[in-house]
Amino acid sequence: MPVLVEYERLSHPGRVNSAPTPHTVSPIADGATVRTRGGANPALARIVSEFEGAGSGYLAACTGGLPPSSAVLAAQDDLALWRSGAATPLHYDAAVTRVRSAFARIAGVDPARVAIGSQTSAFVAMIAASVPDGAEVLCVDGDFSSVVFPFLQHERRGVRVRHVPLAALPDAVSDETWLVAYSLVQSATGEVADARSIRAAADRAGARVLCDATQAAGWLPLESWTADAIVCHTYKWLCAPRGVCLLAVDEDFARELIPVQAGWYAGDDPWASCYGPSAPLATDARRFDVSPAWQAMAGAAPALELFAETDIHAVFKHDVTLADALSEAVGTDARGSAIVTWHDPDREDLARMTAAGIVASGRAGRARVAFHVWNDESDLDRVLRALAR
Ligand SMILES: Cc1ncc(COP(=O)(O)O)c(C=O)c1O
Repeated sequence: MPVLVEYERLSHPGRVNSAPTPHTVSPIADGATVRTRGGANPALARIVSEFEGAGSGYLAACTGGLPPSSAVLAAQDDLALWRSGAATPLHYDAAVTRVRSAFARIAGVDPARVAIGSQTSAFVAMIAASVPDGAEVLCVDGDFSSVVFPFLQHERRGVRVRHVPLAALPDAVSDETWLVAYSLVQSATGEVADARSIRAAADRAGARVLCDATQAAGWLPLESWTADAIVCHTYKWLCAPRGVCLLAVDEDFARELIPVQAGWYAGDDPWASCYGPSAPLATDARRFDVSPAWQAMAGAAPALELFAETDIHAVFKHDVTLADALSEAVGTDARGSAIVTWHDPDREDLARMTAAGIVASGRAGRARVAFHVWNDESDLDRVLRALAR
C-alpha cells in the first residue's frame, strides 16, 4: 500500500517567526495533502503537469533536476533556431532577462541585484578575491567544495578559513569573522541551516553572509534578508539545464566586491564593451555578470519562471511530507528537508534501490534520496519496499 501522510509543520526546525519575509508567496493551504499523480493539491497542478510521464523512481533532484516540458520545448526550439542561423548573440538577451527576473522573484530581490554566471565556484571565487588580507571566513565542516575551496586559495595572503559543524555556525561567528559562507541545505546530509540565527549572529559581529541556495531554491522558500549574497546553480531543484548560476547580492555588500570576472557582458552596454582598452561597467549587479551560456539560458528561462510562479510553500510541503515519511522509516533524526540521508558506508542500501530501478545517490558514506514535484507516494513506497522497511 502506498503511504499517504500529511505534513503538519509549516516551516523547518530552527526558524523563528519574528522577522519579515521580503518576497510574496501564498501561505500553505490548511489541510492540503500530498498530491497523488494527477495532482491532489491544486497549487501544484500546473507544475506537476509539466513533469507528466517523467520522474517515476527518480529521487535525485539533489544531483540534477529533470526538465519541465516547457524547458524541453524551449531547448528544442533553440536548437532549431541555432541550426537555421537565426540564433544571434543579441537574440539570447531576452532569455537572460527572463532568467534574471525569474530568479529575482524566487530569491525575493530586485532584478537589478541579480548577476548571471555559470558555476557556483566561480561566483564564490569572485567573493573570495574580495576578502581582505588576513580576514576570517567561517565555513561549514563538510560543506560542498564550491562554497569552501575558493576561500582556501587565499590562505597565502593570510585569509583564515575556519570550519565548524553546521549546528555550531551561529555560535562560532566572532568579531574576527569577515564572512560566513554556508549552504542553506547541505549536499552530503540534507541538513537545513538555521539561516535566521546565522544572520543574527553575523549582524552582532558585523560579518557578511554568503548563502549557497543550490540545494534549496526550488523547494525551500528563500529569505533574502538572511544573506548579503545568495548564490544558486539552477540545474538541481529549479530544473534548468546545467550552466546557469545566479548571484543575488545586496547593494551595500556589492560595493565591497571586485568584479574580477568582468568581461564584455559586465559592461554598462555589453554591446559597446566588446573591446579594450576600457569601458564603464554596469552600475547594478550586472557588473558581476559573465557572458551567458546561451543554449542553457534558453531552457532555463521557462524552468525558472515555472518555479517563480508556483507556490513554493506548497512545493515545500509536498517534498518534505514524502521525505519525512522516509526519514521516519529509516530512523534518521533529520526532519524538514526534501533530502533524506542515512549511514550507508558500504553502499548496500543504495545498491538495493538501484536494483529496484530507483535513481538515488550516495555521498560521504550516506545514502541520499531526494523528493521533488514529480515524485509521489508510489516513489516512497518503492523505496520502502527496496529497503524492506
Ligand atoms: C550546495 C551545492 N552548491 C553548488 C553545487 C554545484 O557547484 P558548481 O556550480 O560549482 O558546479 C552543488 C552540487 O552538488 C551543491 O550541492
